[in-house]
Amino acid sequence: MTINENVSKKHIDPYSTNLDLDILIVGAGFSGIYFLYQLRKKGYNVKIFDLANGLGGTWKVNHYPGARVDSSVPIYEFSIPEIWKGWNWSQRYPDWKELQAYFEYCDSIMDIKKDVAFNTKVIEAYFDKIEGKWLIKTDDGRITKAKYFLPCIGFAAKEYVPDFPGLETFKGEIHHSSNWPESEVDVNGKKCAVIGTGSTGVQIIQEWAKISKSLIVFQRTPNLCIPMGQKRLTPNDQKKEKYPEIFHSRLVGVGGMTFQHIPKNTFEDSEEEREKNFEKLWAAGDFSFWVGGYKDCFTNLNANKKAYDFWAKKIRALITDEKKKDILAPLEPPHPFGVKRPSLFVDYYEQLNKSNIEIVSVKNNPIIEVKPEGIVTADGKLYEIDVLALATGFDAITGGFKKLGLSDINGEKLIKQWENGTKTYMGISISGYPNMFFTYGPQAPTAFSNGPTLIEIQADWIIKVIDYCENNGIKYIDAREEAQTLWTKEITAIANATLFPLADSWYMGANVPGKPKEMLNFLGGVPKYSGILQYVLENNFEGFNLVK
Ligand SMILES: Cc1cc2nc3c(=O)[nH]c(=O)nc-3n(C[C@H](O)[C@H](O)[C@H](O)COP(=O)(O)OP(=O)(O)OC[C@H]3O[C@@H](n4cnc5c(N)ncnc54)[C@H](O)[C@@H]3O)c2cc1C
Ligand SMILES: *[C@@H]1O[C@H](CO)[C@@H](O)[C@H](O)[C@H]1NC(C)=O
Ligand SMILES: *[C@@H]1O[C@H](CO)[C@@H](O)[C@H](O)[C@H]1NC(C)=O
Ligand SMILES: *[C@@H]1O[C@H](CO)[C@@H](O)[C@H](O)[C@H]1NC(C)=O
Ligand SMILES: *[C@@H]1O[C@H](CO)[C@@H](O)[C@H](O)[C@H]1NC(C)=O
Repeated sequence: MTINENVSKKHIDPYSTNLDLDILIVGAGFSGIYFLYQLRKKGYNVKIFDLANGLGGTWKVNHYPGARVDSSVPIYEFSIPEIWKGWNWSQRYPDWKELQAYFEYCDSIMDIKKDVAFNTKVIEAYFDKIEGKWLIKTDDGRITKAKYFLPCIGFAAKEYVPDFPGLETFKGEIHHSSNWPESEVDVNGKKCAVIGTGSTGVQIIQEWAKISKSLIVFQRTPNLCIPMGQKRLTPNDQKKEKYPEIFHSRLVGVGGMTFQHIPKNTFEDSEEEREKNFEKLWAAGDFSFWVGGYKDCFTNLNANKKAYDFWAKKIRALITDEKKKDILAPLEPPHPFGVKRPSLFVDYYEQLNKSNIEIVSVKNNPIIEVKPEGIVTADGKLYEIDVLALATGFDAITGGFKKLGLSDINGEKLIKQWENGTKTYMGISISGYPNMFFTYGPQAPTAFSNGPTLIEIQADWIIKVIDYCENNGIKYIDAREEAQTLWTKEITAIANATLFPLADSWYMGANVPGKPKEMLNFLGGVPKYSGILQYVLENNFEGFNLVK
């Protein structure tokens, strides 16, 4: 690409009409910020649109009580030296406030905001094959042109609220976790309830249990939570000289983190050795007990049961009430351990053990109605409450894409094309959508990777592809349909060899009624995934058509 120095240095307002860009990014989270910084350095004319009113993506939008990352730092941050060298965290698992401060710090170094249009929502986009450009429509009525289109919308761009009859009649306060008001929700002395015990529910419950008058938790499936091991951190605890090594190990560890499996099957160890190993993983906190365990934990049901039994024993010891024990940590597994996302707890069980905290299993006694005074379950019981948190999660991974208003080069809508199942090539591109690449989306390691690890791997690859196209006069690059079909089959085949399809999880699209049940993530691991990307780069873009 020949860059006109004068043009590239003149700053263009991201809010101006008739923008004609090299690259448009959607989303100002880890992905969008990383892209903008790297692409702008190379001289591309690039902007970000985000519907939120500030930087941070997930961490700008999700600021419900207790919202906090479950991946520890420095694993969960950019590997960009200009950033990590100067930044110190105050805790091993930062909360949303500290993550927002981190993004402000990034901005102070990287000067991101000047190229972001906030409060700007993409509602339609298609690629014009003749012109070789994307046309992107936003809710402010603008149409923006860009040769490359990078939706970096994360996996949680669409919330999910079950269709409870009467929800709108509730006379108290009600909030979905990802639509939380900017001002604090006061629950002091109030009767509260939380619906849902996924990652979000656990975090809200843990906070509200400490300040509300009473709390009712509506649980469909117990969250098999493991200990967090939260710690305060001083600048001295953050040994920066080790960071390059840590950032390298997260590329080769399990789940984009620095864990390695125990290189043995569960039954290769004696009962006694196994207990010792489990104890060690438990004490280490973090995701150790989930992803650092025996290598057959997610492929062998009997092996998995050993992990489950250990977990149940640990948790049951924290609860006195027998009925609560059976709801929170039943002796029979509700599903194999770890095939739904376990949360990291600080004092979740200690809180639930208190007598003013009630836990209602709605597995076989579902919520049938919401009344002005509260919630009614199938057995006819009314639970009166003042404040309700809906921790009912997301139409995860694919929901945001279906909302982007995408259509392919033949005018077919993505939402229609994916009605029976998701199709991508390498979880980074979609056939019929040339010059469009995405990060942290469907059919990549996404929910099984630490965010920043995968995001940097994918973004670096996409930037190489863009550079190649620009240096070689390529008008557009488009994934082949056969390649996409094979990739999609591979996603399912890998998942089929594991225990993951046995649970109705959001990993499988099973939390939203009517959504196709399919594995939405590449389960082969981050190292294998980045190997595949590298292979394609070195082998003439196998699976893609390049058009001059
Ligand atoms: C509650 C919660 C907890 C999490 N905990 C962890 C964790 O412990 N470890 C981990 O690794 N990951 C975690 N994640 C995943 C987390 O999202 C990623 O780690 C990372 O933040 C993704 O960054 P991103 O930039 O790809 O997407 P995001 O940070 O999700 O940013 C996407 C942005 O796109 C914008 N957007 C979406 N649609 C549109 C549109 N149509 N128009 C304009 N803008 C749009 C959104 O407003 C948002 O700002 C968590 C996610 C959530 C929701
Ligand atoms: C981080 O800590 C170091 C050492 O104490 C200090 O020099 C630096 O200013 C701190 N960074 C920020 C952003 O506060
Ligand atoms: C649980 O609560 C009971 C009182 O109901 C208390 O005796 C017990 O110590 C508590 N358990 C824990 C682990 O805090
Ligand atoms: C989805 O399945 C239905 C029912 O089998 C079928 O009619 C429809 O054409 C399918 N859609 C796509 C995009 O394949
Ligand atoms: C995966 O398993 C499902 C259900 O058993 C089956 O229908 C499907 O064909 C399998 N797919 C692959 C690619 O193995």
